Amino acid sequence: MSRPFSRRRFLQQSGTAAATAAVLHGVHTMVRADRPLAANDEIVVGLIGCGGMGRANLRDFLRVAGVKVGALCDVDSTHIENAEQDVAKRRAQQNAKVEKYTTHKDFRELLDKKDIDCVIVATPDHWHALPTIYACMAGKDVYCEKPISHNIVEGRMMVNAVKKYKRVCQIGTQQRSGAHFQRAIELVQKGAIGEVYMTRTWNLSNEHPDGIGNPPDDNPPPYVDYDMWLGPAPKRPFNRNRFHYTWRWFFDYAAGMVGDWNVHLQDIIHLAMGTFHPVAVHASGGKFALRDNRDTPDTMEVTYEFVRPDGKPFVQVYTMRKYCVNHSQWSPGHAMQFLGSDGVLNLNRSGFEIVPEVRREGKKVVQRTEPIKSGGSDQHFPHVVNFIECVRSRQKPISDIETMHFTTTACHLANISLRVGRKIYWDPKTERCFKDPEHKVPDAEANRWLAREYRKPWELPKIELDQSA
Ligand SMILES: NC(=O)c1ccc[n+]([C@@H]2O[C@H](COP(=O)([O-])OP(=O)(O)OC[C@H]3O[C@@H](n4cnc5c(N)ncnc54)[C@H](O)[C@@H]3O)[C@@H](O)[C@H]2O)c1
Repeated sequence: MSRPFSRRRFLQQSGTAAATAAVLHGVHTMVRADRPLAANDEIVVGLIGCGGMGRANLRDFLRVAGVKVGALCDVDSTHIENAEQDVAKRRAQQNAKVEKYTTHKDFRELLDKKDIDCVIVATPDHWHALPTIYACMAGKDVYCEKPISHNIVEGRMMVNAVKKYKRVCQIGTQQRSGAHFQRAIELVQKGAIGEVYMTRTWNLSNEHPDGIGNPPDDNPPPYVDYDMWLGPAPKRPFNRNRFHYTWRWFFDYAAGMVGDWNVHLQDIIHLAMGTFHPVAVHASGGKFALRDNRDTPDTMEVTYEFVRPDGKPFVQVYTMRKYCVNHSQWSPGHAMQFLGSDGVLNLNRSGFEIVPEVRREGKKVVQRTEPIKSGGSDQHFPHVVNFIECVRSRQKPISDIETMHFTTTACHLANISLRVGRKIYWDPKTERCFKDPEHKVPDAEANRWLAREYRKPWELPKIELDQSA
């Protein structure tokens, strides 16, 4: 079997449509994980991106019986060393020997390895699509971090790759695996707070006035392959803020706060309300308050219009401020809120509560539902366990890539509306923006933001599905 992702071969092939087609066809290496595995079969994982979340993921993967690390990859060798220390510490806690694994600066070498069953993609958002797609083509299953993509077209290609190569793919929206989130969703759906026509989510913090500051451009550290860190993003001088962790506040690499955090919150709203597709999206805001070099907003209000499967409308409002935490209606920081005719359900990672609606009906004061309070529940470890179980059983994981593509899309649409300065109408069938609710007039200006051109030699593979299959 040839090695489809060797660096040399990739470089020879990249850059032409014909080459991309050559990469796409005939590379699906059958691995043992194409068939169900026994519960005690070993699963070998490769980590791509050994930063904050990559290491958090790896630590939980190594708690699952039968999971072994086979390779660690990062463009920053100090981050690989950090992950190596995590592996040693975890195995010492378990009184177990450290397994044999390899280290890499180029993820294509990791994907070339036949012993790797699945990969964790925990790179910055602009580096989710290619490792995920190539991993699928190489016959690996994928645990990819949220938000799934840098833009909507990338997300669709990722979904197509998972389907075409029949891979198991879990997205890192671990709230879906939290028992108290599941119970809150069930309560909303069973009518515990009556009829719901409005939901709210928010992210509030105070970084006023300096935010992440304004460091000067500099040389990249010698232990980093900066060109590989940039990958398909535009070439820029190295700047500390446009790098580890704070990259999320720059549109070249991410979608700002609405993509970074609201993707978790908005996802629970979608699940509870039974639809992932906004009909219309209108965002206001901008970078008003912070004197730093980020280019994503520090102030934002997004109004989403939805229609539920039963035809009832609702409005979802996302509020984001980075200069003022006060005056939130419930938990400061982040939360979700379902506003019902019989009560309000407030929800975050620490728990939820139902606050009943109390109103005068004639001479009586009527409380329309029962108050309920719940603590939080573990989310991340059960999410990892769900993925490993699905790798074994070949079932769809709880945060499947297609519904997470829809939730990520809703977040990207907020930024698109902000950029064009108006309400946009979304057609989930064609995944295009329109100027009217009937989808007669395409919104060319908005549709410009659905994809972006990759910096060469990187190219987004065009993956079409055989509709008859
Ligand atoms: N599920 C959650 O709750 C949660 C929480 C935090 C972050 N995240 C997500 O996890 C991802 C990583 O975020 P983070 O906070 O860990 O960022 P980070 O900057 O700390 O880590 C990213 C790592 O990827 C490495 N990297 C960059 N390009 C690479 C490449 N081409 N090949 C290999 N490694 C590369 C970087 O050097 C860095 O070590 C993001 O998508 C983020 O949205 C999810």
